[in-house]
Amino acid sequence: VLKLALIGFGFVAQGLAEILLHRSDELRANLGFSAQIVAVATRSRGSLYRPDGLVIDELFTAIHQGRLDQYPDVVGLERGWDTMRMIRESSADVVIEATPSNFQTGQPALDYCHAALDAGKHLVMANKGPLVVAYHDLVTHARQAGRQLRFEATVMAGTPTIHVGTSALAGCHISEARGILNGTTNYILTQMESGMSYAEALAQAQKLGYAEADPSADVDGWDAAAKALILAAALFNSQMTLADFSVKGISGITLDNVQSARTRGERWKLVARVTPAGGSVQPVCLPISDPLANVMRATNAVTYTTDHLGDVTLIGPGAGRSQTGFGLLADLLEIHRAG
Ligand code: HSE
Repeated sequence: VLKLALIGFGFVAQGLAEILLHRSDELRANLGFSAQIVAVATRSRGSLYRPDGLVIDELFTAIHQGRLDQYPDVVGLERGWDTMRMIRESSADVVIEATPSNFQTGQPALDYCHAALDAGKHLVMANKGPLVVAYHDLVTHARQAGRQLRFEATVMAGTPTIHVGTSALAGCHISEARGILNGTTNYILTQMESGMSYAEALAQAQKLGYAEADPSADVDGWDAAAKALILAAALFNSQMTLADFSVKGISGITLDNVQSARTRGERWKLVARVTPAGGSVQPVCLPISDPLANVMRATNAVTYTTDHLGDVTLIGPGAGRSQTGFGLLADLLEIHRAG
């Protein structure tokens, strides 16, 4: 049984918990996989640790009432441990980092990540911040610690972007990755096409759980740039920082721009592009014949340009609760397989 510590219990970690709640029998029967949540630490909604496992239903009941403190008293339950203590002293095998992304410092999550590896725990991330700031340090640390560092959920939610790029296509030379890597902006552009205002479309994207805690990261293009940077580091071992990217968001695109593009048989999309030499994120007006022009709502896509296969395009969810939770599950299954 893989024991899990959840750092952060927002949308994404809840998405994973929900999958574990409903699919554990199937995962055990088909894949021999079983996982148990032993720890949940949040910044403002309490924390719980129970070495024999927490009951997922009860976690949801408690969090829906506002705080994990509502969890019932049971034997062996510890309450109120701070996040660092949870990472260092809990008996978890895997730390799942799912707190909000900070693209400037990566903190406080970056410290949590190093602490998890120091404590001999595998690290699975939904948070892009630490990878954007310190990808190579974290990879080196994980290698030295002999633990796995996995981050499928950080790029295109659970769509297996990292897996395909680094594992399935490992024998290819990839010269470029180009795609739509932000669900919120793609959702906004889609809704504007049917006449919805920018502000209303953004509010909907927030309600659906697509947007970052601070949605300016989405609309200004930095979330897509962060994902492109992670992808470039994983594919090309590139040393780029966000400052090396040329980034432009969608805030300058008007309802009129969107609708007049449509009358010309075109669509505006926020396109991210990385090569070993650099990266960019910018709105591009694509002809409808371009496959990326037909990726709508919170769906994302990436095209890998390769030597052996030519273009390989992956299209799938780019945001969402269970979609991103699934990305975490995919990483846990890899850890289980490596056993
Ligand atoms: N805010 C992100 C998006 C969520 O809209 O794509 C997934 O990383």
